[in-house]
Amino acid sequence: MEKKWYKEMSVYQIWPRSFCDGNGDGIGDLEGIISKLDYIKELGVDAIWFSPLFPSPNADYGYDIADYRDISKDYGTLDQFKVLLDEAHKRDLKIIMDLVINHTSDEHSWFKESKKGEDNPYHDYYIWRKGRKPGKEPNNWLSTFQGKAWEYCKEIDKYYLHVFAKGQPDLNMDNPKVRKEIKDIIRFWLDMGVDGFREDVITFISKEPGLPNGFPLPTATGIEHYKNGPNLKKYLQEFKEVYNDYDCFTVGEAPMMTPKSALEFIREGEGQLLNMMFHFEHMNCDNIITNWIVTPFRPGKLKKVYNNWQTKLHGIAWNANYIENHDQPRIISRYGSEKYREQSGKMLATMYICQSGTPFIYQGQEIGMTNPRIDSIDRYKDVSSINTYALFRKLGFSDKLTMKFCMYASRDNARTPMQWNDGKNAGFTTAEEPWFEINPNYIFINAEAEQKNENSILNYYKKLLRFRKENDIVKYGDFEMLKTEKNIFAYIRKYEGQKMLVLCSFSEKEMAFRAPSDFCISEAELVLSNYESNPVIHNGFFTRPYETRVYLIK
Ligand code: GLC
Ligand code: CA
Repeated sequence: MEKKWYKEMSVYQIWPRSFCDGNGDGIGDLEGIISKLDYIKELGVDAIWFSPLFPSPNADYGYDIADYRDISKDYGTLDQFKVLLDEAHKRDLKIIMDLVINHTSDEHSWFKESKKGEDNPYHDYYIWRKGRKPGKEPNNWLSTFQGKAWEYCKEIDKYYLHVFAKGQPDLNMDNPKVRKEIKDIIRFWLDMGVDGFREDVITFISKEPGLPNGFPLPTATGIEHYKNGPNLKKYLQEFKEVYNDYDCFTVGEAPMMTPKSALEFIREGEGQLLNMMFHFEHMNCDNIITNWIVTPFRPGKLKKVYNNWQTKLHGIAWNANYIENHDQPRIISRYGSEKYREQSGKMLATMYICQSGTPFIYQGQEIGMTNPRIDSIDRYKDVSSINTYALFRKLGFSDKLTMKFCMYASRDNARTPMQWNDGKNAGFTTAEEPWFEINPNYIFINAEAEQKNENSILNYYKKLLRFRKENDIVKYGDFEMLKTEKNIFAYIRKYEGQKMLVLCSFSEKEMAFRAPSDFCISEAELVLSNYESNPVIHNGFFTRPYETRVYLIK
């Protein structure tokens, strides 16, 4: 497997609104980010991915872009961004931008022009259709954020398509002029010096011609007609021709992706279209289809998914590994245990960072932040949570039950401000009121406390990332899952004569674990663990709650 800088790196994701407020207006910003670059560097990552920093009316907090070539006033200026880029590069931190091109904001100048009428040169930048008959949408598609995927514009008696919120009209990627614009935007940022892109729902950009009706579902009806659509590869190939001029990196967000179909995009060699992909399969182990249909966590499914991705991509493509981001609830509250926060936080970190692939770490994950349990819908900010709450209520679910789902599944779980210290507003802002409420547990869960405690989750992440950096086996070794009882996930990695055993318990119960006979624990070094060591008998031991251990034989 060819070595590449983007395979060696680990990435820290910033959701700018909630990271750090530098100017005291209650909203995170570039000044705040610059002040935390040393913190990020000390964590041991090599790159930062920014969720969108561009001007946006915030129908979907930045994922509705009104201008692709500027920085939102909430966050600062383009000149300040250049300073940030420079300061990051001085510290050997690469910068990855969010490329949101399936849709723009309805306040983007292209859209404002587009809705002036069919004669306007921008009209075909978006997907406009006549109704099937007066008052009836062009087809039965539903938004993934609930409600109809079409919005009527009476001035021109046509509907525009939005598969997300109505403030996010879908671009018509079939229009070559739109693709030209996108390529210019990509160049604009790469010429400035950014190092790559995370490409938002990139697998949705090509729609089935004729926009046929979809299979009726309660949400996202029609999705089969635009996920991995007919011209997706062609368009990605065009964008790639721009990327080829730079030493940059791309990771595409790809809902409903399987390893088999991912390989059509990320298999290394001539036809490779993206460097890696974010799939969602491992995020569906405590729900069915969507995060909102909550089920108990199923470790067996998680293991199967990981085993599949690790083995199917090995040697031919590269994994993008994450367990949190701005769309996912906090992992400790899902797959770990708030009661065993410290142990399970470390175990979950080990579980995914010791696999092959580039690890992504979401702000606050490294200090073990947990879901805030916001228990009334009017305190939520996220459009998809607000709409999904309304849908569940309409379907007859009680407020109590719906709130229960919301507290578990809402994206807002990941979007409360970063907890820096135990002072006012958790050190996030000096304003009276932060833009969004702070999890009251900041009193004991905060970066400063984590820095001081030698055994903290934060210090464990540092060790873990250093271990990965120093050992090629973690990056390039092959992967073999061990047969164990279902609440234990254990795997062996092998590389150039070295062997590594990773053990993760997903249970607070004591369980017996025995290493395979060709991995002799007494010959191995215990390189990482979340408990004091205890005796190894017969090449095995009893696991403690959410225990993790990494043994290395050199
Ligand atoms: C992606 C983003 C999410 C956003 C959506 C629409 O899934 O991660 O935050 O709402 O795309 O842009
Ligand atoms: Ca601010």
